[in-house]
Amino acid sequence: MTTALPLMAGAWAASDPYSSALRHGRGPLFLRRADGWLLPLEVERWCARADPVDRAVLDRCEGAVLDVGCGPGRLVAELAARGRTVLGIDVSEAAVAHTARLGGPALRRSVFDPLPGEGRWATALLMDGNIGIGGDPCALLDRMTALLVPGGLLIAETAATDVDERAEVQVVDVLDPRPGAGSPFPWARLGTPALLRYASRSGWRPVDQWASGGRRFAALRSRSASSSAEPPKSTALISSQRARNTSADSPVPSR
Ligand SMILES: C[S@@+](CC[C@H](N)C(=O)[O-])C[C@H]1O[C@@H](n2cnc3c(N)ncnc32)[C@H](O)[C@@H]1O
Repeated sequence: MTTALPLMAGAWAASDPYSSALRHGRGPLFLRRADGWLLPLEVERWCARADPVDRAVLDRCEGAVLDVGCGPGRLVAELAARGRTVLGIDVSEAAVAHTARLGGPALRRSVFDPLPGEGRWATALLMDGNIGIGGDPCALLDRMTALLVPGGLLIAETAATDVDERAEVQVVDVLDPRPGAGSPFPWARLGTPALLRYASRSGWRPVDQWASGGRRFAALRSRSASSSAEPPKSTALISSQRARNTSADSPVPSR
């Protein structure tokens, strides 16, 4: 079976500058808007080990953790090293391969594709601005509701300023004159106030917000339901993903 990544996600996946930056562990790399505005991507930090700010976020995680847009996998690796049930998903083959090299289970999959453990994850992470994935925060929040157990925890990193923006962007290395930025794709940037506005419309309950190391975070709980869902089976999930964690063609483990 081949996973057909949606066009917008495929644009990250097929971005030569992104793959190359992950392979080398460094930028400079940017998201470029059509008007030329550049948002720096912190490739060096993403390719390093989890730092104290990351680790404090991970201390808040409950149960089985899904890291959405895990990139090169520092958070997945740290959680796996702590013995936690964790899965990273990312559309980029280079990101998934890097995560696997760090010892973290990961799947090459879009968050909008069918995923293992749907409705049973206790915590989901949208770190490093990943609330921007897909360029439609409400659609992404709805998807997170479907992935989490009722009452599950979402930890999202928001922009440092009070912004609420959607734009078509490309991943670019402005120092590299070669073509290869790939097609533009939709992306969003949200500060915490905007995230909380959208979240309250779709039934999320804010539980905390904090700033640390110049970064901002919000924790939200999804709608509760009376039904009690069974958590993903830790050992089965970890071992099945480790065995084939770099393939785009991996079947979804049975529920
Ligand atoms: C801003 S970077 C975040 C990096 C990451 N959190 C880390 O720790 O390095 C966005 C990541 O989301 C991934 N991504 C983009 N669209 C996605 C989608 N639809 N589903 C899953 N991952 C996606 C990209 O490939 C990229 O690795």
